[in-house]
Amino acid sequence: MINNHNRVVTRGLRDVAAAETEISFVDPMGTLYYLGYNIDDLVEHVCYEEVVYLLLYGKLPTKNELDDLRAQLVSEMTLPEAVINCMKSVPLSGHPMEVLRTEVSRLGMCDSDRDYKSEEANKRRALRLVAKVPTIVATLHRLRTNQQIVAPKEELGVPENFLYLFRGKPAANEEKIVIDRYMTLHADHGFNASTFAARVTASTNSDMYSAVTSALGTLKGPLHGGASEKVMYMLDDINTEEEVEDYIQGMLDDKKKIMGFGHRIYRAEDPRTKHLRDIAENLCQRTNSLNLYNLCTMIENVVREKKKIFPNVDFYAAVTLNALGVPFEFFTPFFASSRVSGWTAHVLEQYRDAVLLRPSSMYVGKYGRPFVPIEQR
Ligand code: CMC
Repeated sequence: MINNHNRVVTRGLRDVAAAETEISFVDPMGTLYYLGYNIDDLVEHVCYEEVVYLLLYGKLPTKNELDDLRAQLVSEMTLPEAVINCMKSVPLSGHPMEVLRTEVSRLGMCDSDRDYKSEEANKRRALRLVAKVPTIVATLHRLRTNQQIVAPKEELGVPENFLYLFRGKPAANEEKIVIDRYMTLHADHGFNASTFAARVTASTNSDMYSAVTSALGTLKGPLHGGASEKVMYMLDDINTEEEVEDYIQGMLDDKKKIMGFGHRIYRAEDPRTKHLRDIAENLCQRTNSLNLYNLCTMIENVVREKKKIFPNVDFYAAVTLNALGVPFEFFTPFFASSRVSGWTAHVLEQYRDAVLLRPSSMYVGKYGRPFVPIEQR
């Protein structure tokens, strides 16, 4: 027997580099790059579909390439009947993330070229997922609220269509910019837990739908993408600015995590926060809910003062989606509808790397226990 007690366990895989990647870099000092481009430049100057192109093809598209991609994505936004029919019968108790996880899995069974495994076929699959995940989310919302399902419009891009399919009415001009930026900011983020889960699944040569299904199950957790929904419950719990200090102190005394704060990598403010904070402020001003925005900045100050941690992407993303009229339980599905572009890019990279991701462990259990037959236990 090989004794493995000398192995080093890195709890939580903190600081472990599990693979090489060219897709995104999360700089602990507070910068995020997609394929070498600073997210601050991208969010100001490119649209979400350009980011999708960048993630999947490794370069920014020309005007023609962008037009082609957008047309292809929008044409892929319709769902197979099987998926729509199944969504009509899922239990209402199912969280939208559970339904999304199930329906992405079902999409895999409906894939027209499921037997083709080439890089080209997988890129087609990636585009299908990038297009169809937002439609599943929007369609589920329409069904749950007994509203007519809406068909995507050819003349709109993916983010704008997403809002249109979800709410059934065209977005106002500033909302178009907001949803585009929201999706750009959520598109990718290094080896976060859901991306890692997708890559582990892909590393077994499993298909892209299985990898994205793994990612969805992982994103759902409140320590990851599930945090945005929980942020809103916390904001609902705190009624006035006067209550903030005691509420936060109470959470810290009880050793509870404050949702939307802290990060495994960043030691400075998450670079996405400043953009979402500005967006949230503008939207709150527009919807006469500045009291909510002011409550958030107060929470931010108190948490920084008491714990020296900063808001992460989920904090102001929650306020942003709330101001767009998205119900709380759909916050994480909105996150997933954007992150699917990063997941599929990572799955493609993992297929190219072609190595099984399979760590070891340090066994700390017992050896040599005397076997006792069931009648004598
Ligand atoms: N509330 C209170 N204390 C916190 C929080 C928080 N949200 N985050 C970190 N801390 C404390 C932590 O307890 C530790 O304190 P101490 O040194 O006294 O033991 C210290 O800050 C350092 O934390 P860490 O060990 O570096 O944190 P981690 O890498 O183990 O966990 C995290 C990262 C994201 C799981 C954690 O910050 C957390 O649970 N945050 C709340 C959930 C959340 O907002 N998740 C979204 C993450 S980012 C976007 C995404 O992936 O969706």
